[in-house]
Amino acid sequence: MTSKLQDPSIKQKVEALLGQMTLDQKIGQMTQSERMCCTPEDVKNFHLGSVLSGGGSCPGDNKPSDWVDMNDAYWEASMFADDNHLAIPLIYGVDAIHGNSNVAGATVFPHNIGLGAANDPELMERIARATAHEILATGVEWTFAPTLAVARNDHWGRTYESYSENPEHVASYAASFVRGLQGDLGEESIVACVKHWVGDGGTTHGIDQGNTVATIDELRKTHVTPYYPAIEEGVLTVMASFNSWNGEKCHGHKYLLTELLKEEMGFEGYIISDWDGIDYISEDYYQAVGRGVNAGIDMFMAPEGWRTFIKHVRSHVNAGTIAMSRIDDAVRRILLVKHAYGLFEKPRPAERAWSNHASFGGAEHRAVAREAVRKSLVLLKNENALLPLKKDARIFVAGKNADNRGHQCGGFTVAWQGVNDNQSIVGGTSIWEAIQAEAPNAILSSDVLGKDADPAQHDLAIVVIGERPYAEGMGDVRTGGNSKIERGSSIEGFMKVLDPYGHTLELAEMHPEDLATIKNISKKGIPVVVVLISGRPLVVNQELAESTSFVAAWLPGSEGRGVSDVLFGDYDFQGKTSFSWPKRPHIAELNLGDADYAPLFPYGFGLSYS
Ligand code: BGC
Repeated sequence: MTSKLQDPSIKQKVEALLGQMTLDQKIGQMTQSERMCCTPEDVKNFHLGSVLSGGGSCPGDNKPSDWVDMNDAYWEASMFADDNHLAIPLIYGVDAIHGNSNVAGATVFPHNIGLGAANDPELMERIARATAHEILATGVEWTFAPTLAVARNDHWGRTYESYSENPEHVASYAASFVRGLQGDLGEESIVACVKHWVGDGGTTHGIDQGNTVATIDELRKTHVTPYYPAIEEGVLTVMASFNSWNGEKCHGHKYLLTELLKEEMGFEGYIISDWDGIDYISEDYYQAVGRGVNAGIDMFMAPEGWRTFIKHVRSHVNAGTIAMSRIDDAVRRILLVKHAYGLFEKPRPAERAWSNHASFGGAEHRAVAREAVRKSLVLLKNENALLPLKKDARIFVAGKNADNRGHQCGGFTVAWQGVNDNQSIVGGTSIWEAIQAEAPNAILSSDVLGKDADPAQHDLAIVVIGERPYAEGMGDVRTGGNSKIERGSSIEGFMKVLDPYGHTLELAEMHPEDLATIKNISKKGIPVVVVLISGRPLVVNQELAESTSFVAAWLPGSEGRGVSDVLFGDYDFQGKTSFSWPKRPHIAELNLGDADYAPLFPYGFGLSYS
């Protein structure tokens, strides 16, 4: 696909347009605001190149038609043409990281950690294509996905965004996912964005936005590896990472952004900064802007502070501290992507063939998600061949995650930090709803802790336990002195010092109610099948010991039927852990190939019926 970026006729169009642009118009192209912080009038007046929705930032009633209307208004503003304004279509970006999951009623696919366990690159392409269709249904053109992080420490709150701790495994998905989203850059395509460049999954103690200490060879081998196939496939954009490399912020790192990614690896699209990502380069925002631009970032996610960003870039250019050639390089790349994607030829969002398309959240996409759920489940234990279950068995269902579609979807679903109920996830089935659909004699405990289990009435129990939703640093498990999170968006009033998700990976300490639920049932002699909902492998020795069968379901998304498909034996288990499973809480940083590698379950582990 790189060919479109190299197409001489496209390059010619870009040069012609660039030649007509004023400095203000160029800086505007380099600027991205958040939808809550800019009106269509602003887009026009400041020539903004892009607008985004942060996690959970949704227009109107959050239906596809609300999104199309919003995008239509922004598009129209960007396409206004007179002596002071050039018609350059805006590109709108969203975090469709497991389906177009900000939008009510979207098909929510498993988070990446589950997809990693499925070990099926062909399936990735179909998931990405279905996701592209659901993004297009909302009139949006760009998603900040796929994440190519190689998470090396399970304490990291973004572990679930990573396909695997193994760079080769992540690399084996990169091209398929990008191909599924971008395709031939035709009508059914979306602009992809691989992130976060680079080393996001390698920070010390797994601290979100922390410091990755590594030699250049280690960095290349572990964290750069997955980007090669993505670039080869022609990925059009890359997002810079919040983390530092050996103490220096990636957002200001000229070697990483310009020399390695653009010059050595030949990336020809544009680099977008992460949310206020340049702000951390320097305490002086003016200096930060200069360093970010000069390091090689092309478009700036400056959600709220975009006016100051614009002002500072202009001052830098006037002072000669940012060269005009750097501005031109950035704008050239942005226009090249917009042209290569065919954005200039597209009609207004309301008139695009895929806008408001009926396939959004429809049966065809949900079938793909259900298949992904089936393939992602990992069977860790199955004593006495308790699984597969008979559909006429008298099954007792309990546990806080049994009937909660919000919990099974995890973070980045409808809201940034996810949701905690069934109603917010429109469509799909909870695991309980899925069991009920298969097994008419199943009952849901009237008490989450399963105290009403009765051996005279129940042949066995399914207990669904695990984590609650979280995203980014708020999902970190932090020990010792690093126990507070100081980040968030002030748009939603999130800019606070927050507690991390927990202080240990040991589930029995983090969520004692789960072990209590299992014990309430097992002590009555009822065999228990545990289904674990989690964004990472957790230390579950006690829960394993109390259960007869144990399934890691990761964060399966909206389609609970994928779980029942396998529990009742209509399909066999085929998932294999793409992360090493820790035996003890203090060995969160445990990865395939380590010296003294002694996990509870090794990378690639997974039982099956056959
Ligand atoms: C995250 C990115 C995301 C961006 C836009 C940031 O906080 O790190 O992964 O794409 O927000 O929502």
